[in-house]
Amino acid sequence: MPQDGEFSFDRRSVRDAPVEGKRVLLRADLNVPLTPAGPGQRVADDSRIRASLATIEHLRERGASVVLVSHLGRPDGAPDPNLSMRPVGDRLADLLGVEVGRADAVVGDEVRTAAEALAPGDVLLLENSRFEPGETTNDPELSAELASLADLYVNDAFGAAHRAHATTEGVAHLLDAYAGLLLEKEVSEIVSVRDHATRPLCVILGGSKVSDKIGVIDRFLDTADEILIGGAMCFPFYAARGESTGDSLVEEDGIAMASRAMEDATDSDCELLLPVDLELGRDFSAETETRYLEGTEVPDGWMGLDIGPNTADSYAERIAGAGTVLWNGPMGAFELKPFAAGTKAVAEAVASAPGRTLVGGGDSVAAVDEFGLADRIDWVSTGGGASLELLEDETLPGVAALLPVEED
Ligand code: 3PG
Repeated sequence: MPQDGEFSFDRRSVRDAPVEGKRVLLRADLNVPLTPAGPGQRVADDSRIRASLATIEHLRERGASVVLVSHLGRPDGAPDPNLSMRPVGDRLADLLGVEVGRADAVVGDEVRTAAEALAPGDVLLLENSRFEPGETTNDPELSAELASLADLYVNDAFGAAHRAHATTEGVAHLLDAYAGLLLEKEVSEIVSVRDHATRPLCVILGGSKVSDKIGVIDRFLDTADEILIGGAMCFPFYAARGESTGDSLVEEDGIAMASRAMEDATDSDCELLLPVDLELGRDFSAETETRYLEGTEVPDGWMGLDIGPNTADSYAERIAGAGTVLWNGPMGAFELKPFAAGTKAVAEAVASAPGRTLVGGGDSVAAVDEFGLADRIDWVSTGGGASLELLEDETLPGVAALLPVEED
C-alpha cells in the first residue's frame, strides 16, 4: 500500500489484465527517428522500441497475441512511404528475436484477417496510425474498427498519452483498457518527482521557446526551490529586462511570458536563475566564428548559442546540492560542437548528482545519450510533450481513458 502522501497510479495495469489466450491491441509509442528515406532506411535511435519491449514480452509470455499499433512522424492522414513502420518492424523483430508480422494498413479486411490468424505469442505490427485521417481527429468509426481487431486494449504509449487520438483515447472507451508497464512507470516516476520531491527541488529548463515551458515554470515557481534557465529561451528574459540580444533567437511572444515569470518569481520562495555568461557565434553553424561573453548583453552581429562556463559551474553546484533534479531542454545548440560544453556540463552534473534525477524531453534525452550518461540518470522519460503536460498537472487523455483501479 502507498504511504500517506505517496503517489499511487490509479489506472488498471496490464499486470492485472486477463490476457491469456486473448488478442490484445497494444498502443506503443514507436515514433523513432529514422535514417534518411530510401532503400535501406532504418531506425536511427531505438530507445523507444527498447522501452516498449517489456509490455510486449509480458503479453507474449502470458499467451496473448499482440496487435501492435503506433504513429510515426506527422504524415498528413495519408500513406507516406518515408514514414512506413517497416524499418521499425525490422528493428523490433531483431530486439524480440522473433518474427513480427506486418500489415500494410491500419484497419480493413486484410488487417482483420491477419489479426484473426494470430496464435498466442504472435505479434502483428500495423502500419503508421497517422496514415488514417481519423487518427488525429479521434474518429469514432476508426476507433470502432480498431476495437474490432482485439479482445482488450493496452496503452503503453506514454509519449503520445497527451494526444486524444483514436489509437490513444477513442478505442480505450470501446474495449477493457489497461495501462502498459512503461506508461505506468513513466506516470509514477514523473508524478512522484512533481508532487513528492525530496528538497531542495532543482528544475533545469532549456530549449528554444519560453512558450513550451511557461506552464512548467508557473507550476514550479510555486513548488520548487530553484529553476535554472538555459538555451535560447533565456533571450526573451533578457529582452524583458531591456537588454540587447544581438542576432540571438528571441521568441517574441515569450517576452511578455518571461516578464511575468520574473515578476512572479519576486513573490515566490523559488529562485529563478538565468545564465550570467554566454558563448556566442556569428551564425548557427559549427564552423562559425565564436567568442565568449562575460555578461548577457549580446552585441549586434552575434548570437548566443550556449551558456558560458561560469553559468555551467554555478548550475552544477546547485544540481549537486539538490535532493531532486528535474531537467528538460538543452542549455545550448549542443548539436554544434563549439556550443556543446554547457549542455555537457549540466548533463554531467545531473549524472553525478547525489539526489534523485529525472530527464525528459527529446533533446535533453538525446544529449544524455550522446554523452553516454543515460545509465547514470534515475529516470529518462520517453515522453517530450507528454512529460511536460504531466509536470504541469494536465490530464493526459490517453491515461484518463483507461479503466480506473477498483475501490475496495
Ligand atoms: C513525441 O515524439 O513526443 C510523441 O511520439 C508524440 O508525437 P507528436 O508530437 O507528433 O504527437
